[in-house]
Amino acid sequence: MARREVMSKAKKSQNDEFYTQYVDIQKELNAYLEYNPDVFRNKIILLPCDDPEWSNFTKFFAQNFERFGIKKLISTSYAHERKHIEEPYQLTLFESESPKFDKSKTKTHGKIFTLDSDTNKSGRIDINDLKWDYLKGDGDFRSDEVKKLRNEADIIITNPPFSLFREFLAWIMEAKKQFLIIGSINCITYKEVFPLIKDNTVWLGNGMGRWISGFIVPKGYELYGSEAKIDKEGNRIVATNSCLWLTNLEHGKRHQPLQLMTYKDNLKYSKHKDIKENGYPEYDNYNAIDVSFTDSIPSDYKGIMGVPVTFLDKYNPDQFRIVGLGNGAELFGPSKIYENPVMHKNGKTSNGNAINRVLVYRTTEDSKVYYTADNVDYPLFAPYARILIEFKEENDENVA
Ligand SMILES: C[S@@+](CC[C@H](N)C(=O)[O-])C[C@H]1O[C@@H](n2cnc3c(N)ncnc32)[C@H](O)[C@@H]1O
Repeated sequence: MARREVMSKAKKSQNDEFYTQYVDIQKELNAYLEYNPDVFRNKIILLPCDDPEWSNFTKFFAQNFERFGIKKLISTSYAHERKHIEEPYQLTLFESESPKFDKSKTKTHGKIFTLDSDTNKSGRIDINDLKWDYLKGDGDFRSDEVKKLRNEADIIITNPPFSLFREFLAWIMEAKKQFLIIGSINCITYKEVFPLIKDNTVWLGNGMGRWISGFIVPKGYELYGSEAKIDKEGNRIVATNSCLWLTNLEHGKRHQPLQLMTYKDNLKYSKHKDIKENGYPEYDNYNAIDVSFTDSIPSDYKGIMGVPVTFLDKYNPDQFRIVGLGNGAELFGPSKIYENPVMHKNGKTSNGNAINRVLVYRTTEDSKVYYTADNVDYPLFAPYARILIEFKEENDENVA
């Protein structure tokens, strides 16, 4: 099964129990700390949709509480009964041996962990000072109880349930909080997400794809060949290349300019055969050129360019402006509508209406897949999803 499919399986089967590895949290968080060592100083940090008893987010922030100068750490979990987990409920020793243990609440209530003082009088505030209790409800992030914690927090950090990603982001945005969350790469093109990226209200974190090395999955989760491994602690890890970090916390990478060659030099020296042979096709239904690789963006091009969505991993808002999305019924406005479009694939034909929602350029009938329509007398090709960008002029007022 392809890696992308693993994530889509997680979404479809409502399997929201993909846990984040310590190493990935550390790697991402270090980049914000490098940019601003005081990013968490005197802040209240909320880690919702977590499982504080063994979550690596809680562990990471609790271990670094003093070093980061955090004011208060709050972490909440979702009631076991609400989770889509097939295996039997396993009570942790931590809970069962605590005087707070309540048999009537253990499966039905969420939990809250807080850290703000040296409760064990060891002389430092660390993971051993975490206090816990049952929440009044199930820990749903949409509940009034967790909303209150959100309102109290300065920064919200988590890997939220995949199936509720849109709702989760809206929940953060309505409270106007700083945040860092994990989502699927596909979220870039969601109508609830792309406008925020376009306006530089939110942006990608420090990496996407293989930057996140994998997720810990529940014992019952079926593992697939090369995507799966068992780590030193016996955790079952599923590797994906389809996730990213989304944030509104500043980091250095987004201010590094992309080093690029001119249009002419790309045609001569590009490492991509496609660019050297075919150059930059003009779209047939939008006034822009297609740039099939981010590193082939011509440094001296003045117009609009369609680039792969992975461009956002290199996007520097001081260098480029995002003009729009090159696909999707709601966010893309083509300059031309094709009448009765037909898709030709491997000698077979089918309905080609999809080309009215994407950028297309002229091709030849040798292409494996191409489109024709009643109002054009040439075949058309639809590249993968594109983002429309242009260079920012110097002294541009909209510099982010
Ligand atoms: C993708 S997992 C990530 C867990 C943890 N944040 C981590 O990264 O290791 C998402 C978690 O959210 C929980 N969850 C699902 N729906 C939820 C909801 N409506 N409110 C709060 N948590 C929810 C799931 O049970 C799961 O534990």
